[in-house]
Amino acid sequence: MKRIFSGVQPTGNLHLGNYLGAIRNWVQLQKDFDCIFCIVDLHALTLPQDPKELTGQTREVTAAYIAAGIDPERCIIFNQSTVPGHAELAWLLGCLTPLGWLNRMTQFKEKAGKHREEAGLGLYAYPVLMAADILLYKATHVPVGEDQKQHLELARDIAGAFNRRFGVEFFPLPEPQIFGACTRVMSLRDGTKKMSKSDTSDYSRLNMTDDAAAIALKIRKAKTDPQPLPATEKEAEARPEATNLLGIYAALAGVSFAEVIQRFAGWNFSDFKAELADLAADVCGRIAVEMKRLMADPGYIDGVLKRGAERANAIAAPVLRDVFDLMGLLRP
Ligand code: AMP
Ligand code: TRP
Repeated sequence: MKRIFSGVQPTGNLHLGNYLGAIRNWVQLQKDFDCIFCIVDLHALTLPQDPKELTGQTREVTAAYIAAGIDPERCIIFNQSTVPGHAELAWLLGCLTPLGWLNRMTQFKEKAGKHREEAGLGLYAYPVLMAADILLYKATHVPVGEDQKQHLELARDIAGAFNRRFGVEFFPLPEPQIFGACTRVMSLRDGTKKMSKSDTSDYSRLNMTDDAAAIALKIRKAKTDPQPLPATEKEAEARPEATNLLGIYAALAGVSFAEVIQRFAGWNFSDFKAELADLAADVCGRIAVEMKRLMADPGYIDGVLKRGAERANAIAAPVLRDVFDLMGLLRP
């Protein structure tokens, strides 16, 4: 039996990359699998957060999940800090994780930057908490964007280390599920940089809360190069901005990159951008309206999270109990 687990951090500015790289794919998965979708608020704390904003952003990610089409009856939706097993299992797994494995993580290097000595222990241990998130439910498949692949490999290594250490086949080795289309949405201001929540320019991303007018404006202002659109995939390779906009179009329209290249070969950017803006406004605008409606009712959102936490905990608690037993921790 497949069990899916994935999560998004409530760090604000949820964007098109989060939608196309992650959330949208989850909507498909819920039809066939047992799915758990988390708002990973403990992960958000690995960088400084304003407490009031964190609360609002947690509700916002919840609203985005539901607005995008994740059914809170069918799936479990909850925020990480409401199930204590995440932090507990992270400690236990941390005791089995060599520092050498963590030192390879590129995301830590990126986020800590030049100030390695000032970076928090939480930021360093982040991938261990992520492994705990997944293993606490014995999840078998983890749909994420490409940037999370290395963390997934670490989760597999940690699961394997646990199983070997205690001579059991306890944790399944979780498989990454990286979906074909648009696993990496790039910045609208720089086609070589990932679209990111933390970019200081709001013009770099399409936020999931942007309305049609904002979407059109940002696409109109998106960086391009001076040539007409490429006629072949080969020609697109050296043109990151063209590749990104065409890739976004393909993902939103649900067609292949090759088809989009063929359709817009030789067009000028301004005409293509008008088409892209219409399409993006149609798909994302609808989600933004639904998110707004949901966020106006925090009581409903909190109810979804509370029920989700109960259901998640019912799966997590027995797994954690078995881990305590295997490790020899006494539960008198
Ligand atoms: P985060 O924003 O780091 O909480 O990421 C949440 C999910 O969105 C993860 O599955 C990421 O892989 C995915 N994601 C984030 N940014 C992008 C991007 N620019 N393109 C594609 N997927 C992304
Ligand atoms: N690290 C992921 C990200 O930034 C979020 C995350 C935390 C996650 N725990 C997870 C994703 C478990 C999948 C499974 O995108």
